[in-house]
Amino acid sequence: MKINKCLFPVAGYGTRFLPATKAIPKEMLPILTKPLIQYGVEEAISAEIYNLALVTNVNKKAIKNYFEAHAEIENSIKGTAKENLLDEVNYISERCDFSYINQEQMLGLGHAINTSKPLIGSDAFAVILPDDLCITQGDTVLMQMSKLHNQYPDSCIVAIEEVPFEEVYKYGIIDGKLIAGSTDVYQVNNMVEKPNKEDAPSNLAIIGRYILTPEIFSVLEKTQPDKNGEIQITDALMTLAKQGKVIAYKFQGKRYDCGSIKGFLAATNYLAKWHNLL
Ligand code: G1P
Repeated sequence: MKINKCLFPVAGYGTRFLPATKAIPKEMLPILTKPLIQYGVEEAISAEIYNLALVTNVNKKAIKNYFEAHAEIENSIKGTAKENLLDEVNYISERCDFSYINQEQMLGLGHAINTSKPLIGSDAFAVILPDDLCITQGDTVLMQMSKLHNQYPDSCIVAIEEVPFEEVYKYGIIDGKLIAGSTDVYQVNNMVEKPNKEDAPSNLAIIGRYILTPEIFSVLEKTQPDKNGEIQITDALMTLAKQGKVIAYKFQGKRYDCGSIKGFLAATNYLAKWHNLL
């Protein structure tokens, strides 16, 4: 069955981008002229997903404002050469339904996803972490994953990429086996959140794209917080992986970690060159 909803967990404080993020949500920082979150939203639309659910917090109203019409600006540029500068965001507002829910305490990604339950309903849904900006030549990563969902409708799907062992401590890491005949789809047996290099079962790291079955909510309900008091989506997925219900997909394309200054700059640089600005 087709995926109709995409969740964006965007309640975090974005402390790595302080002081800018004192007043501006990190998802609103621009890569060229578009805020980071817009790249994620465009990826959802590419997969024909128009119901967008955001887990946010009271200090991040700028995100909601951004996706709403702004009559004053629109009237002031109407009939001028700048008239179509808002087209790129207006087509999103016209086409998509946005819903929002507050995450009152920052208790981890698993907690954020569980908070979204009233917005999601009872079908499988996609999750995009907009910090991970993915650039592809053909199908976007979410399109690639949606196709896989048609083949494996009862499994959760995580997108993975190989990372150097020195960096496994930043990610959820999977332990899996390539499915017979495939070069990019793994059956996941186990997974571990941010392991040391020595404890990592592989260097296959989960990136910020997931397709989750609704069963995830009952599992999250029972998932214990980790040593930092956070509920991890990786721990909930591990429970399902042990029941053979998680697959991992090595996507085609390049991911930029825009949650780090280095990755944010690299993405900006790549897109600036692509648009012949550098
Ligand atoms: C989260 C997840 C982690 C995943 C990562 C992808 O971590 O907990 O498993 O690998 O996103 O970006 P975070 O980056 O929020 O610390």
